[in-house]
Amino acid sequence: MDTLECIKTRRSIRKFTTDTVPRKDLEELIEIARWSPSYKNSQPWEAIILSGEKKKELSKTLVDLLKDNKENSPDLAAPTSWPEKEDANIKHLMAKRLELTGIDLGTPEMIFKAKKANFNFYFAPHAIYLFQDASLSEWSLFDIGLFAQSLMLAAHAKGLATVPQAFVTDYANEVKECLGIPASKRLILGLSVGYPDIDSPVNAYRTERQDIGEFYKYLE
Ligand SMILES: Cc1cc2nc3c(=O)[nH]c(=O)nc-3n(C[C@H](O)[C@H](O)[C@H](O)COP(=O)(O)O)c2cc1C
Repeated sequence: MDTLECIKTRRSIRKFTTDTVPRKDLEELIEIARWSPSYKNSQPWEAIILSGEKKKELSKTLVDLLKDNKENSPDLAAPTSWPEKEDANIKHLMAKRLELTGIDLGTPEMIFKAKKANFNFYFAPHAIYLFQDASLSEWSLFDIGLFAQSLMLAAHAKGLATVPQAFVTDYANEVKECLGIPASKRLILGLSVGYPDIDSPVNAYRTERQDIGEFYKYLE
């Protein structure tokens, strides 16, 4: 697939087929993503691929914590408010989602359901966690974001699908304990990975983007 097409057609997928992905194909995603640029080539990223029983064990741990109403303790705090422009984009997404899927994240029941689906990695056969040393600066967060995008594009180019998930870092300490990640690391992002179930209505909505005139100027 052409690079430009790959960037434009990648999207988050939330329903996967039950087919597992060969380990070598999953590892190839990491192999490709490691070519991402980083501040002074510091390469501030670490990754774990989860499959089979280990993935099930982690999902159970997360769902049990949710059912127990355990308070969240992510390493990166979830935003509590947004500036006007970004807030409008989020509200647009929420309204579209409500209109097309009936999912309204405004009610506690729906939030519980959404979190549960996230904690089950949308029943994808694999998950990938990205983390880095907790002493790294904000620039390294930028770098691991680039790594995440490379990984998602590589997956898409190879016919695989992903969804990046902040939700699955909600219980950072428990995730790190389950995966054997030292407490000195910060958990950045989890991603579900598998083959897309393209015909599922869950995957029907293609998110929109602002026109470039809304956020861009050309000066000369
Ligand atoms: C840092 C980050 C965190 C996200 N967290 C979640 C999440 O917890 N659950 C989820 O279903 N989607 C999550 N998403 C996916 C976004 O909702 C999605 O990228 C956005 O709506 C744009 O849609 P697209 O990826 O299909 O282009 C996250 C995306 C990013 C970049």
